[in-house]
Amino acid sequence: MRIETYERMFMILAALMLALGIVGIAIGALVAGVHVPSPAGRVDPRALSSTPPFDQPGLRDLGNSKYEAVIVARAWQFQPNEIEVPVGSTVTFTLASTDVIHGFVLAGTNANVMVIPGQIAQVTARFDQPGEYVWVCHEYCGFGHHQMYGKVVVR
Ligand code: CUA
Repeated sequence: MRIETYERMFMILAALMLALGIVGIAIGALVAGVHVPSPAGRVDPRALSSTPPFDQPGLRDLGNSKYEAVIVARAWQFQPNEIEVPVGSTVTFTLASTDVIHGFVLAGTNANVMVIPGQIAQVTARFDQPGEYVWVCHEYCGFGHHQMYGKVVVR
């Protein structure tokens, strides 16, 4: 079979681009540690109020500048919707929903997870600069979606 010179060049170019893309994904996943957030566990959304740690939402000091923020998402609020930590803190957000699918995106960080009923979502962020970091629900969850937000105050 005869292949035109230009066609051959484009086939080689396309194969190179494809290989480059695959290598890029492999480096991202294996070297840079890029990955999609996966559920940290399972929880019964109807029994959230009696299931630790979601029976007592709030901030826990784990020592060594590490914190865990346990946050319950429900239409249409986060509980708690404000936490305060010192500069230099690393906060692991542990979230669960009591009702519908919500989202959690924290401005100024790369924390971004879905909060799906039945799943425990977990994401970690480090705060090296003082300020207020607003988080919002980024999954349309109904009438009050736009008023579903909270903030991390870093002092
Ligand atoms: Cu919760 Cu949108």
